[in-house]
Amino acid sequence: MSNLSVKHLIAIKDLQPEDIHLILKTADNFKEVLNRPIKKVPSLRDITIANIFFENSTRTRISFELAEKRLSADVVNFSSSGSSVKKGETLLDTVNNILAMKVDMVVMRHQSPGAPSFLSRHIDANIINAGDGTHEHPTQALLDAYSMMEKLGGASRLKDLQGVKVAIIGDILHSRVAGSNIHCLKKLGAEITLCGPPTLMPKYIESMGVRISYNVKETLEWCDVANVLRIQLERQDIKFFPSLREYSLYYGINKALLDSIDRDIVIMHPGPINRGVEITSDVADSKQSIILQQVENGVAVRMAVLYLLAGRLD
Ligand code: CP
Repeated sequence: MSNLSVKHLIAIKDLQPEDIHLILKTADNFKEVLNRPIKKVPSLRDITIANIFFENSTRTRISFELAEKRLSADVVNFSSSGSSVKKGETLLDTVNNILAMKVDMVVMRHQSPGAPSFLSRHIDANIINAGDGTHEHPTQALLDAYSMMEKLGGASRLKDLQGVKVAIIGDILHSRVAGSNIHCLKKLGAEITLCGPPTLMPKYIESMGVRISYNVKETLEWCDVANVLRIQLERQDIKFFPSLREYSLYYGINKALLDSIDRDIVIMHPGPINRGVEITSDVADSKQSIILQQVENGVAVRMAVLYLLAGRLD
């Protein structure tokens, strides 16, 4: 397979396992390019990409922009704060006005689940979802999978994730990262346990073929990799647990807890981290943690996605 089966990257749910393998293999080639003294290739010369962000971002926005520039694309950045969105312009009008300036691809982050899907039905450009509300964050799941494969593969490069045990711990209910990771890891054959307070566990989530645990120590004893998620207070308009202190006591990952288990597990976090809440600094900054490798790999993975989707331009 040398082409993606999709024209847009809206959700991991839409991808075939072959699409995911193709993206990860292409990302591995771009990672090699990024380790050269000259990190730039001409692959997307004459392609114009708009990064339109209606919600805050540090990692994803910078990572996409760097990926686009490494591929020699022309890049324009739009942020809703300070734009005519504040004067009442609709999402479709905003994007159509940007496209009128001859833009080929749109990378979009939006607070509303479904916004990138809506756009993909109304405009011609390729759309890449950079996170839509609580729905999906597909490139985060792809870079998480790549980072696991790289770390577990060691010298033999990328390990097959078939049968690898992955725990996703934290605020599952509000997390688009959890949703995309579950779809991606299941398509790659990994086993998944979700762990967090019952109030932050979506109803019927077992139907996605995952295990559920409310015991963080047992979960850590089971897994090869623990992907720790942030408590998304900005999406919580009611209290889901009594206090951050209590959350940290029962579900936080700290050094004493890791030392008490008889396994050397890999620690991941998509960021931004709430240090001292879901993870302590001595774990986040430990040798077991690959948090900054995840960020590094994000550029290669996004280069792969952009490059492969450009091959689907009309
Ligand atoms: N992981 C992630 O999406 O981070 P940002 O919100 O900073 O982009």
